[in-house]
Amino acid sequence: MVAVAPQVALRVGIVGLGRLGQRHAAALAHNTPGCRLVAACSPVEAERAYAANQLGIANVYADLDSLLADPAVDAVVLVTPTSLHADQTIAALKAGKHVFVEKPLALNVPDCERVLQVAAQYPDRVAMVGFVRRFDPSYLAAYQSVAAGEIGKPFLVRSQTCDQNDPEGFFVKFAPTSGGIFMDCSVHDIDLARWMLGRPKALRAFATGTIALHPGLADCGDVDNGIAVVEFEGSAKAVLYASRTMAHGHETSTEVIGTAGKLLVGEHAAANRVVKSDQHGVRHAVLKDFYERFEAAFAAEMAAFVAACRGITPLTLTLSDALEATRIGLAISRSLASGLPEAV
Ligand code: NAI
Repeated sequence: MVAVAPQVALRVGIVGLGRLGQRHAAALAHNTPGCRLVAACSPVEAERAYAANQLGIANVYADLDSLLADPAVDAVVLVTPTSLHADQTIAALKAGKHVFVEKPLALNVPDCERVLQVAAQYPDRVAMVGFVRRFDPSYLAAYQSVAAGEIGKPFLVRSQTCDQNDPEGFFVKFAPTSGGIFMDCSVHDIDLARWMLGRPKALRAFATGTIALHPGLADCGDVDNGIAVVEFEGSAKAVLYASRTMAHGHETSTEVIGTAGKLLVGEHAAANRVVKSDQHGVRHAVLKDFYERFEAAFAAEMAAFVAACRGITPLTLTLSDALEATRIGLAISRSLASGLPEAV
């Protein structure tokens, strides 16, 4: 299932050069083995100028179709608004490219299913969704511990994604295309829960939430703090919390509880291992945002995509995983709106 031989560098085109796209682009240009960043695409002139001037990319396009027509591009990395992911992934596969697409795959199940159907027609092309936490060294170590049976049978995952408050409310503008706090943030925790629990089928979800600081979210039925419970087949559960309003910094943490022990990843969002004790108390510096927390994981994720395209290491993360994450995220979002438990 390989288009690019292991000895040949993968030629990558990046699509979307916003908040995360510029990070991925810099990593692909300078820090990802086995690839060359050869093309970029953005409808925004300033972003195209960034690609040409800061990254030295010669082939810079204003629209996706032009980039997909470039025969010098083997693979595309889509870091575009979530509402575009499904159609852009399908277009890239049909153009014969390998595809990495940021999470979530899509904001509804039919769109995910369309992607899976097209991907099945191109089995020699890699299609990967960016569930970055699977590539974080700490989460990977926790997964390996669970898989080795070290905490017995895992039955409960408690996981949270909490961002530092942005007084400007960047995410309020982003809300209409992000799918809301659960699809945007908790989708990572949903994927983690399924991964840690052995991919059980989700049955039912309940969610509630509140707007603590950003009233503009009410216009699209979103909240800035949300809690959800997901019930799985075989009685496993996930308890999720997402927040946009932490005062102190970014705090992603996950607890996996099993019959013979439990694991905790990411407690207290410590930026490093220094703990200062003085007349004010005992404290440590905190991580400021998701990228600072997951920079190494983003690098490993991109390296895994490139390695898969070059036929070196197959991926264990599948499009079906991404479909299930969307399915569960939607049930949670429906429950937030209805106030009732919703079938997944
Ligand atoms: P952003 O709004 O900062 O950037 C979006 C980019 O897409 C911009 O460069 C924009 O010019 C470009 N774009 C818009 N329409 C386009 C089109 N038709 N064709 C090509 N490019 C187009 O958004 P951000 O924060 O960078 O998020 C992008 C994606 O990354 C989202 O799906 C989001 O869910 C995901 N993301 C994932 C994270 C993770 O932890 N894995 C963290 C942050 C974002």
